[in-house]
Amino acid sequence: MMEKNKLIDTIDKSKLPKHIAIIMDGNGRWAQQRGEQRVYGHNNGVQSVRETAEAAAELGVKYVTLYAFSTENWNRPKDEVDTLMKYLINYLKSETPDLNKNNVRLEAIGQIYRLPENVQEQLRKSIATLSKNNGLTLVLALSYGGRNEIVEGVRAIAEKVRRGQLEPADITEQTVSQHLWTRAM
Ligand code: IPE
Ligand code: MG
Repeated sequence: MMEKNKLIDTIDKSKLPKHIAIIMDGNGRWAQQRGEQRVYGHNNGVQSVRETAEAAAELGVKYVTLYAFSTENWNRPKDEVDTLMKYLINYLKSETPDLNKNNVRLEAIGQIYRLPENVQEQLRKSIATLSKNNGLTLVLALSYGGRNEIVEGVRAIAEKVRRGQLEPADITEQTVSQHLWTRAM
């Protein structure tokens, strides 16, 4: 705790980025190096998320996006996927009160409909509980794929063109941004 505070004091708060994105990786390797099972790494990964969110909220960062589970991650052994989903629910259940105290808002991006129903349910609950907050916005990228995000955006744009609401020549970088999952950020 002391160490974390010292580190925070060394940061120039006028030079903070508005949005920090973190790709969660290496949990399994981290555990293996310590002679432990992969789940041990995932468990400690949850701890890192807790500390990161707390520090970002304290610093006044507006957005932290955690790339926590990719579309490719569905190809992992069922046991591991199940464990990750269980950790996700446990994290949301246990952390929502603290996130609330820290004025953190929660959002989720990705193919949320592919997540198990109990995960979706807990996500909806936590998002609702934290919806009035206006400090840090914590964005969980779940069943997220970069190309998939583009596909869904392009489909929505094509649909507008088909309905005659948009001319192909009027499609700009801004149009694309407005059709990505990150449009509000
Ligand atoms: C990140 O760690 C956690 C998730 C992607 C869910 P990994 O599970 O990818 O760990 P390594 O990369 O195999 O070490
Ligand atoms: Mg990995």
